[in-house]
Amino acid sequence: MADTKGSATLTIGNKAIDLPIHSPTVGPDVLDIRKLYAQGDVFTYDPGFTSTASCSSTITYIDGDKGELLYRGYPIEQLAEKSHHLEVCYLLLYGELPTAQQMVDFETRVTRHTMVHEQMHYFFRGFRRDAHPMATMVGVVGAMSAFYHDSTDVNDPWQREVAAIRMVAKIPTIAAMAYKYSIGQPFVYPKNSLDYAGNFLHMCFAVPAEDYVVDPILAKAMDRIMMLHADHEQNASTSTVRLAGSSGANPFACIAAGIACLWGPAHGGANQACLEMLREIGTVDRIPEFIARAKDKNDPFRLMGFGHRVYKNFDPRAKVMKESADEVLGLLGIHDNETLKVAKELERIALEDPYFVEKKLYPNVDFYSGIILEAMGFPTSMFTPIFALSRAVGWIAQWKEMIGDPELKIGRPRQLYTGAPRRDYSEVEER
Ligand code: CMC
Repeated sequence: MADTKGSATLTIGNKAIDLPIHSPTVGPDVLDIRKLYAQGDVFTYDPGFTSTASCSSTITYIDGDKGELLYRGYPIEQLAEKSHHLEVCYLLLYGELPTAQQMVDFETRVTRHTMVHEQMHYFFRGFRRDAHPMATMVGVVGAMSAFYHDSTDVNDPWQREVAAIRMVAKIPTIAAMAYKYSIGQPFVYPKNSLDYAGNFLHMCFAVPAEDYVVDPILAKAMDRIMMLHADHEQNASTSTVRLAGSSGANPFACIAAGIACLWGPAHGGANQACLEMLREIGTVDRIPEFIARAKDKNDPFRLMGFGHRVYKNFDPRAKVMKESADEVLGLLGIHDNETLKVAKELERIALEDPYFVEKKLYPNVDFYSGIILEAMGFPTSMFTPIFALSRAVGWIAQWKEMIGDPELKIGRPRQLYTGAPRRDYSEVEER
């Protein structure tokens, strides 16, 4: 728990209640209201948790005003430049950057778990061919609890560790299988001589009839996408994983719940929605029409890939993603990509428009990721599964942290009830 630096007094009627104030390592102070209901007989009301810290955590820190994102204290820009996804996985899971030997050991452990139980292939075959890969992933990741019973005891630290390794190792295999199944191609087994991102590309794009050589620049871009999405403190899907896990549910079930939450267009589904929006805009001259729609209170349309609950400045991940988009399109010789042109012009116009400036709506991570993924050859339906496989490590790290927290309690929010007060049942003929 953080240091307590004093208290605030809340007066309700003639009762004064002292509420401790905790100081985090960085970021705003936190008012501890745990005793409020017991002492003051009142709840707090905060739908959407805009002012509520749901837990304490040592994993990720975001300064939304500065546009800063730290994993275990390390800025995302430095990690994106110098690190790689598996090293970031180690950092998120264990709190420190690995030594060379620790990295070798970790890589070996992850690599030895990349295959899925052969019986799972039959499980996949039960899905309709045209199922969205996210639908398949929710089901298959949940079903891991049926295939890997021996790592579902949340009270056993060793089983928790094995579950974490299995999750990180198998989720690219599952995402690639969901993709292959949706396009009617045979599953491709993992190839442990490849690195994490290269192996994922291989499982998605190799076919038995031809050799597939992983392009190192594409593998690097994929690795970067994974790193940038690896964790993001208490966002909706991570909070879902924690809430599910707070009841003692097994980790695979909890991660399946997180994947379901991520799917929504306000969260991870935004990358698919954003590229579809850019395509719908089509040409630069149609941008003003869409900007006008985004500003119109009577139109539900929003500019996808813009805005964030926490960032009120540039999303630092979007900056790195934009550089990667230029690099990947350059490598692939795509210079007059209409979608990229629309994206760049839309960004320019929105950043100057008073509506977006006043509301501090900046491009977020999903704004550029779709352009890179499309250039790599992924259909839009795979964008959110790639977000999910990248975030899996963050979810499992947060879940492990929560289970090990002596302050763990089942999550049980209260409510502001606005329904009917107690009333008597009326017979049908009297209604
Ligand atoms: N286009 C137009 N107006 C917007 C947008 C947008 N993309 N985002 C927010 N606004 C407006 C909104 O209408 C509201 O206006 P007013 O105050 O006049 O009612 C104001 O800005 C604040 O919006 P909010 O919905 O109260 O803010 P929030 O913190 O609840 O929502 C958000 C954050 C990300 C859900 C929202 O900005 C959004 O829907 N963006 C588009 C979807 C998107 O790109 N999501 C990906 C987020 S980053 C990756 C991830 O987390 O998965």
